[in-house]
Amino acid sequence: METKAGDPAAFAHFDLHRVASPAFVVDEAAIRRNLSILADIRDRAGVKVLGALKAFSMWSLGSVVAEYLDGVCASGIYEARLGREEYAGPHGDKEVATYCAAYKPEDLAEILKISDHVIFNSPGQIARMRPVIDAARAAGCVFDIGLRINPLHAEGEVAKYDPCQPHSRLGFPIDQLRAEHLEGVSGLHMHSLCEQDFLPLQRTWAAIGSRIIPFVKSLKWLNFGGGHHITRSDYQRDSLVEFLLEIKSKTGLQLYLEPGEAMALDAGILIGEILDVIDNGMPVAITDISATCHMPDVIEAPYRPAMLHEETEGQPVRLGGPSCLAGDIIGDYRVPGGATPGRRIAFLDQAHYSMVKTNTFNGVPLPGIWLWNSETDELKQIRQFSYGDFKSRLS
Ligand SMILES: Cc1ncc(COP(=O)(O)O)c(C=O)c1O
Repeated sequence: METKAGDPAAFAHFDLHRVASPAFVVDEAAIRRNLSILADIRDRAGVKVLGALKAFSMWSLGSVVAEYLDGVCASGIYEARLGREEYAGPHGDKEVATYCAAYKPEDLAEILKISDHVIFNSPGQIARMRPVIDAARAAGCVFDIGLRINPLHAEGEVAKYDPCQPHSRLGFPIDQLRAEHLEGVSGLHMHSLCEQDFLPLQRTWAAIGSRIIPFVKSLKWLNFGGGHHITRSDYQRDSLVEFLLEIKSKTGLQLYLEPGEAMALDAGILIGEILDVIDNGMPVAITDISATCHMPDVIEAPYRPAMLHEETEGQPVRLGGPSCLAGDIIGDYRVPGGATPGRRIAFLDQAHYSMVKTNTFNGVPLPGIWLWNSETDELKQIRQFSYGDFKSRLS
């Protein structure tokens, strides 16, 4: 996969020695810029925008997210709790929409208490969980039930990230949807895009709109999921607004978007340090950043993260992490200033889907988390991890 972002923006002038390595540094001004673009779409289109915690759940910024958006979407019990605890806003009125491919009954009881929308993956599961749903309502919980549909219209470039791949487990196939599946259901949810601009959304609606329209009378809302790269400079935002206004007037439904990446696009870097350099047919450098522990998408997607100030000429150096995994390779780079021990490096666009995926395989220490404001230059260490964090996850 190609990275679609990778603009250093204000990080072009950030001194990489200001923090202990390794470290995620997130620019609050860049986050606010992204959130204000999302809020502008919300206001112009009269829709609701929820931030997807799975992509970016740096909860020390929960109150900042709440300043701009209508709430958050969660992938299960833990994110729903985090959303309720940290993203509720000063009046406690921000929304939490939870979707999980399958709920455990004991988690669902708690999820129904703390979520505004609880979205199921199949009518079968809604029917099976009816006693839990009824009990929650009897106890005074107020929530809407939603159903995730699978549009069966693939727009994804990579099968792994395409919920419309053949035999996908994500969403109820739209060609099976009948009125009886929507009894007690207030909204439909779909999510089938990944880092995409407006046209794939438009094509998706063109493919499935006529199947949804017959059901809208019994519904309150329609959630278009995430995968919209709205804050990318080339995203067709005016077309999105026009499209949403049109769907709204055609269906009369409250529309939702739940972007994740777009909240944190180009808003954070991962800083590391070169620890050693060897020669094995080419220069190979070992860093205190691990692909497998700190940027697992580099291996999983796979993709090559952009490096801050990477040079265009000269000998490339293979960079890899300190773990024992032979494939713990970040990629081949022309390191600015040359790859020598002690050299600081930074990978761009690491605020989303990296911080949320870190792990301590091999006992590799977790990067610290720092908040910088590129407008005021204020820099705060939000979190430093220690041996205790590694140990507490094991027994
Ligand atoms: C249901 C759902 N909503 C929202 C998102 C957020 O997507 P993105 O971060 O690509 O905008 C995802 C991502 O996988 C998702 O599965």
